[in-house]
Amino acid sequence: MRLQNQISVLFVCLGNICRSPLAEGVFRDVVKQRGREDRIIIDSAGTGGWHQGAPPDPRSVAVAARYGVDISDQRARKVTNRDYTSFDLILAMDRSNLDDLRRAAGHASQERIHLFNQYALGLTRDVPDPYYGEVDGFEVVYRMIFEASDALATKLAERLSAPSGQASSTM
Ligand code: 4NP
Repeated sequence: MRLQNQISVLFVCLGNICRSPLAEGVFRDVVKQRGREDRIIIDSAGTGGWHQGAPPDPRSVAVAARYGVDISDQRARKVTNRDYTSFDLILAMDRSNLDDLRRAAGHASQERIHLFNQYALGLTRDVPDPYYGEVDGFEVVYRMIFEASDALATKLAERLSAPSGQASSTM
């Protein structure tokens, strides 16, 4: 059961092997550094299920490890219908993921779904898909995800310290 003053966040990309596992791991690390790990529930998923059960892409594992974050235990999964009602915040890595999520989610869940950079930083900016690109694409993705994760942690800390009842799904 979820405590009253908790927020759950689901990071979503296409395959759940490159970007969203990085976001899950980096944001969990940021939250832990701030001593908030009991308040924020974090997971990731993909809009597609091709990589279901697979570990993150080795290039994501490597860039995370360079910054002291271990994401090797994660396993890919596809977004489920239940995710649309069980997570307070569903954060898409790019606008294609955002469109797919909005199409698949029911009316009541639309307000939970946002572009990650938009929600965290107010920027209409995709976290670009690095899958077919060069290795340094993963470094770019890591930096973007770290910046947005730091801003997201600050934003959620404000929500969590607001009077009870305000940490709702319409954040
Ligand atoms: P992700 O990257 O959405 O960041 O996990 C991708 C992973 C796999 C594929 C595309 C993007 N793919 O085409 O298999």
